[in-house]
Amino acid sequence: MLNYTDAQKKLSEYGQEHLLKYYDELSEEEKASLLSQIERIDFSVLESLEAEKNVTANRGTFAPLSAVTVEDIAANEAEYKKAGLEAVRNRKTAAVLLAGGQGTRLGFDKPKGMYNVGITRELYIFECLINNLMKVVKEAGAYVPLYIMTSEINNSDTINFFEEHDYFGYDKNSVRFFIQDMAPAADMNGKVYMESRSRIASSPNGNGGWFSSLVRAGLLDEIRSSGVEWINVFAVDNVLQQIADPLFIGAVIKSGYESGGKVVSKAAPEERVGVLCLEDGMPSIVEYYEMTPEMITERTENGDLAYKYGVILNYLFNVDKLVTILDNKLPIHVVKKKIPYMDENGNYIKPDEPNGHKFETLVLDMVHQHNSCLPYEVIRSKEFAPIKNATGVDSVESARELLKQNGVEL
Ligand code: UTP
Repeated sequence: MLNYTDAQKKLSEYGQEHLLKYYDELSEEEKASLLSQIERIDFSVLESLEAEKNVTANRGTFAPLSAVTVEDIAANEAEYKKAGLEAVRNRKTAAVLLAGGQGTRLGFDKPKGMYNVGITRELYIFECLINNLMKVVKEAGAYVPLYIMTSEINNSDTINFFEEHDYFGYDKNSVRFFIQDMAPAADMNGKVYMESRSRIASSPNGNGGWFSSLVRAGLLDEIRSSGVEWINVFAVDNVLQQIADPLFIGAVIKSGYESGGKVVSKAAPEERVGVLCLEDGMPSIVEYYEMTPEMITERTENGDLAYKYGVILNYLFNVDKLVTILDNKLPIHVVKKKIPYMDENGNYIKPDEPNGHKFETLVLDMVHQHNSCLPYEVIRSKEFAPIKNATGVDSVESARELLKQNGVEL
């Protein structure tokens, strides 16, 4: 572990020596914990503060990208299914559940996957996901290796929950957990906050770090030696998420593309969703707030929206390719947030207004590091029921409605 001198040196590179201000007053245990935080935290993200205003200005030239549509998929169903099922049966496809987020919008103080969406019975978000995955397991006759990314904050709760519920009937030996890295939270001037005398204000560093965290956790060897070629990465919060979907896997394999992304047709031109398109000729996702009014309303010859296909955080990546891009930096998204902190007088403050910045990388930016990505259209009402909020749009309420429509008993 880092010693005091090394920690001081690391912090001075980023002008953050104040984080050691109380060091001498700490217990041995607190000292060790502080040093280990300093060791684990990537302070280089702070450099992106200067580039904050340029995140969108640095984007290239966008162009529309067409998808393999629901109709195309129906026409090739047998072929895709055969290739996909074979990849699952031979354990060539693994799944990565991104469950390291804090789910602040939902306002639930446990890991989001522990939320009970049931009404007359218990039905947890994690359980919905496992149930969905079990359909594929049954069809293929093989378990899909499942890697679950947690954060320092929710790791033990998540593992205990799976243990208590006996993995909801999933094969425990096919499940691994790994912990993502943390990023510091800084004030408006780029000085990192402290939460207490021994604790640096930090939060999970976004879902973009999933592959590097998985590698750091020592899981790549197992993935490679067991012959896994494809990884299906998906979000925890979509209770209709179809995981290791043989048709999707088959379509990507048959296309010869390096990656694939599940997409849905936008509900309206202005829908607030990232769109899979091209940027300087490479696949990329343009965020809704980055689109010009022209892009939002542009139509193709047959009257469809040109930027039609919204991403739903379900991607298929190729392991060999992921290894080649492992050291490539992802853009850092700087977000203004309310950050609880300890003030000069040692009081713990919970601000009402954003008082600083958090730093995140996003899995969607990995798409742009690929030469090709197949947009694969799915039917929204069957596969997209995200739970972001407690009520309203993308909420527990809307997800329950969609679960019912899909025959899930609540
Ligand atoms: P969101 O972007 O919805 O973030 O995550 P969030 O933290 O869960 O929720 P809010 O914004 O605070 O309300 C999309 C997916 O990425 C995962 C989440 O768990 C979810 O599956 N994620 C997000 C991580 O795994 N790590 C992160 O650091 C952030």
